Amino acid sequence: MEDVARQHPIGVYDSGVGGLTVVHWLREILPQERIVYFGDTERVPYGGRLPEEIVAFSRQILGFLWEQGAKFVIAACNTSSAIALPVVAPEAPIPLLGMIEAGAKAALDATQNKRIGMIGTQATVKSHAYALALQQLEPSISVYEQACPELVPLIEAGHWEGNPIEHTLNKYLTPLAGHQIDTLILGCTHYPFLLSAIQQVLGQGVVVVDPAEATVWEAAHRLKELDLLSSEKSQEDRYFVSGDPRSFQASATRLGYTCQVEHVDVKKYSIGMGV
Ligand code: DGL
Repeated sequence: MEDVARQHPIGVYDSGVGGLTVVHWLREILPQERIVYFGDTERVPYGGRLPEEIVAFSRQILGFLWEQGAKFVIAACNTSSAIALPVVAPEAPIPLLGMIEAGAKAALDATQNKRIGMIGTQATVKSHAYALALQQLEPSISVYEQACPELVPLIEAGHWEGNPIEHTLNKYLTPLAGHQIDTLILGCTHYPFLLSAIQQVLGQGVVVVDPAEATVWEAAHRLKELDLLSSEKSQEDRYFVSGDPRSFQASATRLGYTCQVEHVDVKKYSIGMGV
């Protein structure tokens, strides 16, 4: 691999601000890597959508990230990782990494009683992607999955604490606590923004696993294997959204991320372009 390809950015995409929780770990673990981020804020949430829509969106996004010169892409969206990646990875001109495998492995490392809870979108829960990945690693594991459809719209609207969040979390987490789980996977990249509220509802006896950290370590490993690790960050990160850049920027700023955000019409891209 030529030096120039190593200096290309890592593509990161999500339906909205959730992928910023992965950006957080990229900045910690791979600070020399440049990021090009896409948030599909015009079409968020993905969780209630049909699998064919989620696959079609992913093809468009990968076409855009390819055009941006991405050398590697992290699907920083569990819904897209569970539904789209198995379909698009074989067609994609760029190596892709999703959230599920590394998240499942991190949860398995954390559990003592082999009773793991997972919260995610309706589509992720319906796919049973985490349960399948966990059972493949350890057949005797028990996995309890809970869809939380109200959380992503609340988080995208800027509600990260207080009454509506606490009430909604109680509703979703109480049945999981009843299964005596000792580990909970945050199976949606939006949920780490609610980490302290989630930990408060479950108590300190439950280990809460954010798959983002393990996923970024896996990305570092893959980039090294592919001889694609960057030696220095030569340019600034770029952020793109399909919706209103101002509302994404306002959320990102409140979450502690300083970024200029640009609009892109992602619908005009597709995975086959320029390949
Ligand atoms: N952050 C996405 C995920 O990890 C949210 C999906 C949605 O838009 O519903 O699943």
